[in-house]
Amino acid sequence: MSRVSLTQYLIEQQRLHGHIPQELRLLIEIVARACKRIAIAVNKGALGDVLGTAGSENVQGEVQKKLDIIANEVLIEANEWGGHLAAMASEEMDSIYVVPNRYPQGEYLLLFDPLDGSSNIDVNVSIGTIFSVLRKVGHARGVAEEDFLQPGKQQAAAGYCVYGPQSMLVLTVGDGVAMFTLDRETGSWVLTQDEVKIPADTKEFAINMSNMRHWAPPVKRYIDECLAGEEGPRGKNFNMRWIASMVADVHRILTRGGIFMYPWDQREPDKPGKLRLMYEANPMAFLIEQAGGAAVNGSERIMDLHPTKLHERVAVMLGSKNEVERIQAYHREG
Ligand code: AHG
Ligand code: MN
Ligand code: MN
Repeated sequence: MSRVSLTQYLIEQQRLHGHIPQELRLLIEIVARACKRIAIAVNKGALGDVLGTAGSENVQGEVQKKLDIIANEVLIEANEWGGHLAAMASEEMDSIYVVPNRYPQGEYLLLFDPLDGSSNIDVNVSIGTIFSVLRKVGHARGVAEEDFLQPGKQQAAAGYCVYGPQSMLVLTVGDGVAMFTLDRETGSWVLTQDEVKIPADTKEFAINMSNMRHWAPPVKRYIDECLAGEEGPRGKNFNMRWIASMVADVHRILTRGGIFMYPWDQREPDKPGKLRLMYEANPMAFLIEQAGGAAVNGSERIMDLHPTKLHERVAVMLGSKNEVERIQAYHREG
């Protein structure tokens, strides 16, 4: 069997299909290399002294784990000197990180959730890294937070790496979704699935059920109908999964279908949701749509939303197309 590496896949995207410029290819390769380093740190666990909390909080008031900080540093160090980026933004940094003057500045912007699923680090459950690439619009010198505030449909590339039983990199450059598995013996990302497609129908949902009493009526209706099973209006039994790492839940959905929801709830009515638009929802929405699924915040398509701030939150409902459209219809009905 001939093996296709990430580099080969990207060169093909660049040369044969003209989908990506060389700078974007090199940028993705650097992100993939950084994820490899994070995968190695994750695997070491207690042996590498990477578990536990760091004793600090991020801008969102969440306690930072050691791995949140390590992964953030790895991504910054790997990406700041390449010459492809103007700036980076991260869940773990209050404001944007502009590429220092000593390095050349490029035209791309990189956003990431360095370590997704922090609550799973210490219990040895799958976690991940999510990333999104935007183009800096306009060629004026300098870069500011406003340059990042673009709708998700303008992403040039997006992906995640899941650190689970296998480390896998899942990527889109706007031409479908490809999955790569890390070969630890050769150190390369090997293409293991191309043209990923999500089945339009599913019998599996993912939501944190402990928040049920706080949900809005359309979400409650949707889940109630799933729970009613064969005897209910859906006429079929549903299964539930909740890993509490968005990366791992989305990976399952890309692999076998399903719907994932982190909806708005009434505990904090002014907060649209828990997840962040720019570096969690948008990249996942891009991947899901590229695999034939859908991603909405309730009534609207996530990738059409115009962000107003870097750490903006959003309600997220994504996955198998027919299910997402159903829940969208419930929201539109009010
Ligand atoms: P992060 O670790 O980057 O803060 O993200 C955690 C997110 C997401 O990965 C997951 O789907 C969700 O939080 C889990 O939330 P609950 O703790 O409510 O289950
Ligand atoms: Mn996250
Ligand atoms: Mn995180």
